[in-house]
Amino acid sequence: MIDWHCHLLPGIDDGPATLDEAVNMARFLYQEGYRIVYCTPHLVKGSFEADNAAVRAALDALRAELVRKYMPLQLFPGREYCVDEFLPEYLKDPLPLGETRFLLLEIPGYTPPAYVRETCYRIKLSGYIPMIAHPERCIHFEAPDHKPARGIRRQLSILNFKLLISNYSNSADTSLLSYLIDIGCMFQANLGSFAGMYGDRIKRNAVRLKQAGLYTHSGTDLHAVPAELPSESACLKTLYADLTS
Ligand SMILES: [Fe+2]
Repeated sequence: MIDWHCHLLPGIDDGPATLDEAVNMARFLYQEGYRIVYCTPHLVKGSFEADNAAVRAALDALRAELVRKYMPLQLFPGREYCVDEFLPEYLKDPLPLGETRFLLLEIPGYTPPAYVRETCYRIKLSGYIPMIAHPERCIHFEAPDHKPARGIRRQLSILNFKLLISNYSNSADTSLLSYLIDIGCMFQANLGSFAGMYGDRIKRNAVRLKQAGLYTHSGTDLHAVPAELPSESACLKTLYADLTS
């Protein structure tokens, strides 16, 4: 299994503070079945500003420690970029997910949709591929409470995604999502969203987007070893196996 979004590196952002804590998280992920983890610390002006060199150094230190502990968990570097006015400066030295061309982007609710479009378009032009982190948690992608008929829901796929979102009338979010799909963005689900980790509203949104065939990847977005796992956790990996491999 692959975790495409994880705050595993020690001392970089609001993930683990120490190497020992990071090793404990790595052990948890390994026990959950993960074998590849993309380490994606925040890069947010004024909050989490560690540069790429610090990320690589922390990654090297954790890799070395996992080798010492005989834990065969493969780690790759990355970042979780915030789509705001500071992003263009940060993207002069982009850090994609490992050897891929993916750049993981979180979209705050305060960022205007037009800016999101322009930013993702420019990223595509530069040869990288935006991967939208947990769109189910982004207010721009919330739809009015609307449930299509069961039979229709089962048949939805990325190809007829627009049929679904066309039912969400008068929503600027709809056009943003449609645009991001059109230019070839990827979409990463947080597995915890399906288990209600962020509340029922986000769970409903995640399920709706999953049924619509939006998601291309998944991640834990883990910041620490969870105190307790959601009750649905055991079946999540089976249900969403298509997104974790
Ligand atoms: Fe994250």
